[in-house]
Amino acid sequence: MAPCGPALLLLVFVSLLPCLHAGMIKLQCKNENVGIYRQNSLLSCSVKDFSPDVTVILVIWKKSGKSIFTFYAEKTTFEDEDPRLQFAEPNWTPNNMNISLLLKNTQIADAGQYECMVVTDAGEDKGQTSLQVRALYSKPTVCSFPEKNIEEHMKVTLYCNASGGYPPGRIQWLDKYNTDWTASSETRVVQEEDKRTTLISKFTVLQATSVNPWYKCVLYDSDGNRQGEAKYTLSFASKDHPPEKSTQRKNTVTITAVVVVLGSLACGLLVLLLLQRRRLRKMPYMEPCKMSAEEAKVKMDMGLQ
Ligand SMILES: *[C@@H]1O[C@H](CO)[C@@H](O)[C@H](O)[C@H]1NC(C)=O
Ligand SMILES: *[C@@H]1O[C@H](CO)[C@@H](O)[C@H](O)[C@H]1NC(C)=O
Repeated sequence: MAPCGPALLLLVFVSLLPCLHAGMIKLQCKNENVGIYRQNSLLSCSVKDFSPDVTVILVIWKKSGKSIFTFYAEKTTFEDEDPRLQFAEPNWTPNNMNISLLLKNTQIADAGQYECMVVTDAGEDKGQTSLQVRALYSKPTVCSFPEKNIEEHMKVTLYCNASGGYPPGRIQWLDKYNTDWTASSETRVVQEEDKRTTLISKFTVLQATSVNPWYKCVLYDSDGNRQGEAKYTLSFASKDHPPEKSTQRKNTVTITAVVVVLGSLACGLLVLLLLQRRRLRKMPYMEPCKMSAEEAKVKMDMGLQ
């Protein structure tokens, strides 16, 4: 037995080594962390079941296989690592088993899966955690075309817009009787460079009526939670002062003058329209409420539904 003794011992030792090593500590990570755009996020991982005198030797946080934060021998940053990251615990020391990270100024692109590895003098372990990032939309705003002097049974187009949200939400249209008009609307989701989105909803009231002059645009986030709303009252032409109708006077001089004026006006408008078309091509195409009715009409002709 004697010659086999040391070999057997060594075998036992070698096969036990990984178990001893890995079994001593356990890294516990939160499955899912939720962060808010431009705010601080927490990537949460902590070592559990440790004896009081354990010391952390190495911590490596990775995202998609790339190291983003390293603690080793009191150096916490290397080149190419993200300067927005730090240990979440203020005044962290190697005896602190909470190796969660604080991510400053969270961006939409920070969403995803993160891996964390820790080596201590009592063993090592790995864990995974994920980050979801959300961004709130701006308060929705509504505008209409035409903007005012609306007459009974006129066709009116309402726009509701909200910007900067992520993941994309949706817009619902209601009237004062709470009738849901969403099916008669069309919402475009425009993605910005940083993946945040602008919602532009177009709702056409086929026959506007002053009996039911107000509409509400309700904004929901991607989880279906109400995030905001905007009420809008159509501006009807006053009944006491109806818009001027063509006069009955048949004065040829007046008519000639009118024809001349209208002719030059039409020419002027045409030039203006052409100029605007040229200008609009350079404008971002998603701000219907900022434009005048004419601009919006031109824009609509150009393809914004
Ligand atoms: C780790 O530290 C952070 C920041 O202090 C804290 O928010 C978090 O709850 C801690 N995690 C655990 C598991 O204690
Ligand atoms: C939405 O409408 C408001 C009000 O007219 C306007 O100020 C804002 O710029 C618009 N935003 C977008 C993204 O269209």
